Amino acid sequence: MIVPKPARFETRLGRFVLDRETALAADPALGEVAAWLRGELSPVTGGQLLPGRPGPGTITLGLDDLAPEAYRLTVAPDGIEIDAGGPAGAFYGAQTLRQLMPAAAFRRGAAGGPLELPAVHVQDAPRFAWRGAILDVARHFMTKGDLLRFIDLMAVHKLNVLHLHLSDDQGWRIEIKRYPRLTEVGSWRKESQVGWMGEMDGRPHGGYYTQDDVREIVAYAARRHIRVVPEIDLPGHTQAAIAAYPELGNLDTPIEVSGTWGIGSNVLNVEDATIAFFKNVLDEVLELFPSPYICVGGDECPKDQWRTSPSAQRRIRELGLRDEDELQSWFIHQFDDYLAARGRRLVGWDEILEGGLAPGAVVASWRADLGAVAAARSGHDVINCANTSVYFDYRQSERDDEPVPFGTVLTLDDVYAFEPVPAELRGDPAAAHVLGAQCGIWTELIDSNRRIDYMAFPRLAAFAETVWSGPERDLPGFRARLAAHLPRLDALGVEYRHESGPLPWQTRPGVPGRPEDPDAWQATIDAWTSNLRNAR
Ligand code: ACM
Repeated sequence: MIVPKPARFETRLGRFVLDRETALAADPALGEVAAWLRGELSPVTGGQLLPGRPGPGTITLGLDDLAPEAYRLTVAPDGIEIDAGGPAGAFYGAQTLRQLMPAAAFRRGAAGGPLELPAVHVQDAPRFAWRGAILDVARHFMTKGDLLRFIDLMAVHKLNVLHLHLSDDQGWRIEIKRYPRLTEVGSWRKESQVGWMGEMDGRPHGGYYTQDDVREIVAYAARRHIRVVPEIDLPGHTQAAIAAYPELGNLDTPIEVSGTWGIGSNVLNVEDATIAFFKNVLDEVLELFPSPYICVGGDECPKDQWRTSPSAQRRIRELGLRDEDELQSWFIHQFDDYLAARGRRLVGWDEILEGGLAPGAVVASWRADLGAVAAARSGHDVINCANTSVYFDYRQSERDDEPVPFGTVLTLDDVYAFEPVPAELRGDPAAAHVLGAQCGIWTELIDSNRRIDYMAFPRLAAFAETVWSGPERDLPGFRARLAAHLPRLDALGVEYRHESGPLPWQTRPGVPGRPEDPDAWQATIDAWTSNLRNAR
């Protein structure tokens, strides 16, 4: 009853008793995994899992000739062995081991007594290398403590990429020493819109991570084999930065950090000084995030201000560009070259395909499957973040009492049915460009950690199976595994959505949402498809 489902799982006769005397032996290369496992299990058994020798009564972590993320786990009456291709595989084996324990083992210090584990043999490895979650900490800030908790929850589900959306119109969330106003001014807004179209709430909202916070978050995630991919969204979704430094924008009048939602018209200008500014920002970002992948956004950049800006028009003429789409493409290229020269790969939303894209860039495809197909066919690696399947800000049922209904309905079963390789690419060698997938937790309408719990869980468990487990789907089997998994989430204090619908305090009557209008939706898909015809 493991989530995500392992590749092979066999039950055997007998059981292992984990108690205060249980020891832990680890290959020296797996010392960090052993330390992590000791930290998780000691409060459960009341023992210390002292370093022991491989043998009876011991949990042994070893290396074998397997892929780095693959592991074999054997629980037998006389001992437990995890053999892995590397530290990540050993970590995933240890996560599976925890799930063999009663759910109470996920409560710190709750049990304190011997635990019985069934004898099993598990062989496991992930299907995709990129198993991510996008967390939008720009629209609503998430405290560092809540973020670390979320990282632990990702690790339970064997996800390995946290895509942190650090900047947007509504907030700038990372300290940049060279430009202190980005956080002094850009990290808070005076008030926020209630729901999608409601009144302003009259309450300031804000917060940011210091560079020390970021180092801590990145290190905490790395110990859990999660890479943090930062996103600094350019050239649209930049109103908070422009509020802090008006010279980055196209207007003569100062603007404020936005408190309303939607696609903002205030975008960066295309001056050399603005490009230099963001290269300086990226210099500090690269210092903090060792990720080989750095996201510069590139989505939803309205071109109206560029159409009327003399300097943008001059730039188009000087460079001999066709239009504002090519100007955006040129703008993104500045950062592609910059990152490539520093050994990193640019990640951008699928709009970066419109007007041409540099060869090494990776596409985060969010507009249904369209960007994924276009990107893979044009030779780009792609991460499937399809809003039609894995956007967790979208409502979870048709019910009227879902909190802040938004988007199309994406039920737990819909998420479980998600296939990261688009149907159009099946059988096509270009499918090899699909590195994996990311679920999206966008937070315009998710204003607290409790609401993130409600929107993300248990859909994130279904998503985890789509990226970790094989391509076949078995909904009754998944639901049976989930029934065993929910008590683990309860023990971890996750306020997930119950099958019966929102609990009384989880609804938000009267807060305006934005359910998808099917006709408008088709028109949107048609427009996206036509824009992506220019993909190169
Ligand atoms: C996005 O949802 N605009 C990436």
